[in-house]
Amino acid sequence: QSKLLWGGRFSSGPSPELAALSRSHPSYFRLSPEDLSGSRAHARELARAGVLTGDELGQMLAALDAIDGDVAARRARPIDADEDVHTFHERLLVERLGALGGKLRAGRSRNDQTANNTRLYLRRKARELSAMVLAVQDALAAQAARHVDTLMPGFTHLQPAQPISLGHHLMAHAQSFSRDIARFIDWDRRFDRAPLGAAALAGSAFACDSAASAADLGFAAPCENSIDAVASRDVVAEFLFAAAMLGVNLSRLSEEICIWASRQFGWAKLDDGYSTGSSIMPQKKNPDIAELTRGMSGTMIGNLAGMLATLKAMPLAYNRDLAEDKRNLFETIDLLELILPAFAGMVATLKFDTDRMAADAPRGFTLATEVADWLVRQGIPFCAGA
Ligand code: ARG
Repeated sequence: QSKLLWGGRFSSGPSPELAALSRSHPSYFRLSPEDLSGSRAHARELARAGVLTGDELGQMLAALDAIDGDVAARRARPIDADEDVHTFHERLLVERLGALGGKLRAGRSRNDQTANNTRLYLRRKARELSAMVLAVQDALAAQAARHVDTLMPGFTHLQPAQPISLGHHLMAHAQSFSRDIARFIDWDRRFDRAPLGAAALAGSAFACDSAASAADLGFAAPCENSIDAVASRDVVAEFLFAAAMLGVNLSRLSEEICIWASRQFGWAKLDDGYSTGSSIMPQKKNPDIAELTRGMSGTMIGNLAGMLATLKAMPLAYNRDLAEDKRNLFETIDLLELILPAFAGMVATLKFDTDRMAADAPRGFTLATEVADWLVRQGIPFCAGA
């Protein structure tokens, strides 16, 4: 009989090819703290159900805490035979507690575990990313305050339209970042429900007080429907949308910074610490942060599209396809965590050539609308009659 978590009815283990395909990507093991939090909540639920005695619960919680510490300090690491983070922890628990370690599996499944882990992780990331976006907004607001009276031409169709203040323009970008943050807050409210207790799909025989388990994990309540709890991933797709929209908003500002920093415009100078040079052209100063952001926003759009394509036409409830959710997700989050601090520094240290911008402000007849408005005040109709 196979010794695997699910090996009871199997006479042999998986072929090496299957094992390689089936094993989680190494980055998925980052959900270790979330998985262990879920395990603690589940252990308490088993104690409420009388499956664990008070003494056993104490031992279980101590072992889970010790595993948490050992994994964080890299004293415990997954081995090749650990298919995923759940299997990894279960191996450690059984090694440490023997038969007692095996008791934790009752009334749960990796299906509710993985859904629960992902939500916990994303709720933390929504907060961390929002704080990073706030730092970009701070940089924009500080620049805007400095440049309330700096004139520049505003554009439509990238053609000079009307003179505006640089502060006004920069705060337009800050405004869209406010909505990006609001989207994360709104997302968080919608998914403030714990999947734990859904087990494989039909619910757990030992769920006594899933409201208490949910509260243990900081959720407002358990998921309303156990099948939906394990099968749905709009939680991931919507997060990827909020992230991709943020990426696109960053990309639009990036594009403007590239234009402003071009020699032909000459409006903005990038700080040495936030720009790069060329290996062959000594005169170059390149806006790499803006360009990388612009490029990476394309990857984020792709990750959203990829997640939607994975979900399309998937029957309920859990299917193994769903393990793909984390690939898209982690890449997008990792990219934003690289981009946002660099972006905030780039914006904070931009130097504007205010004389040049002011000189350009009226060029290209940008005051034509003012003249037309003045004529209207003199009683002349704006449009010639037929
Ligand atoms: N590791 C999987 C995931 O990330 C969970 C495993 C569920 N596997 C299963 N055979 N039901 O989604």
